Amino acid sequence: MAVIMLSAEHLYKVYLEKISIARWRKRTIITDFSYDFLSETRYGLIGLSGSGKTSLANILAGFDRPDAGRVLYAGHDVKQSQIRVRNVFQDTYRFLNPVNTVIWYEKTVSRISPDPGLVDRILDMVGLPVEKYGDIYIDQLSGGQRQRLAFSIVASQIPEVVILDEPFSMIDPANTLVLFSIIKKYLEKSTVIYIDHNLDRIAYLCDQVIAFDHGAVVEEGNVMSVFGDPKTEYVRRMIDAAGKLSSQLR
Ligand SMILES: Nc1ncnc2c1ncn2[C@@H]1O[C@H](COP(=O)(O)OP(=O)(O)OP(=O)(O)O)[C@@H](O)[C@H]1O
Ligand SMILES: [Mg+2]
Repeated sequence: MAVIMLSAEHLYKVYLEKISIARWRKRTIITDFSYDFLSETRYGLIGLSGSGKTSLANILAGFDRPDAGRVLYAGHDVKQSQIRVRNVFQDTYRFLNPVNTVIWYEKTVSRISPDPGLVDRILDMVGLPVEKYGDIYIDQLSGGQRQRLAFSIVASQIPEVVILDEPFSMIDPANTLVLFSIIKKYLEKSTVIYIDHNLDRIAYLCDQVIAFDHGAVVEEGNVMSVFGDPKTEYVRRMIDAAGKLSSQLR
């Protein structure tokens, strides 16, 4: 049975924005965000560029503090929690250290994963077998290879909560399908929060969708009902734009 894994309660995030050489003003990026994320459920977080998705992901993962509100993991705050929350960052260099090699990550992850052999199996599936890539440094990988490695490191720990912030932006379609199959196979018990501008990928992977505008939820619900019959102009425009783009590219 699905249980509440992660609760966001009245989150606010404020950044200082420079408006002239010596003047700054406060800008609220997240406004009163509250949400209960369930286990065994995949959530798609959508919104225009700059709407605050990455800022929210960093707070949910515990990498950044909200200015107000709190995040509870299965009823506990982040320090007491035994829940493993892992984030695949939009920028892989926030996560992968260029001085390390692929095998360094493989060994580190196999020590902490509940299934020590899984990292090798996943690296094989994503086309980065350790026999071939083990001695390669992070800097020597392509952007897409770094994203596949970052994803493998996170997925093979089978975290209770996984946050994926545009993890496939540099990955070709064939490899993206492999990564989706890994999520569906190994993370079916997890809470997955998936951020992507590609609505087809959101619809394919997710059960629920949360539309985000200026740091607040404007629409949310079952992915098929939101995409099939959007209630807000914001989501309708996103769907129309995605449709126009794919028909013009055809
Ligand atoms: N550390 C920071 N300091 C100041 N402003 C920031 C900081 N990080 C983000 N911002 C601002 O907050 C807003 C939201 O940024 P965020 O990265 O959360 O957007 P996003 O929805 O993830 O966008 P994208 O789809 O382009 O990744 C942007 O206007 C950004 O410039
Ligand atoms: Mg972002």
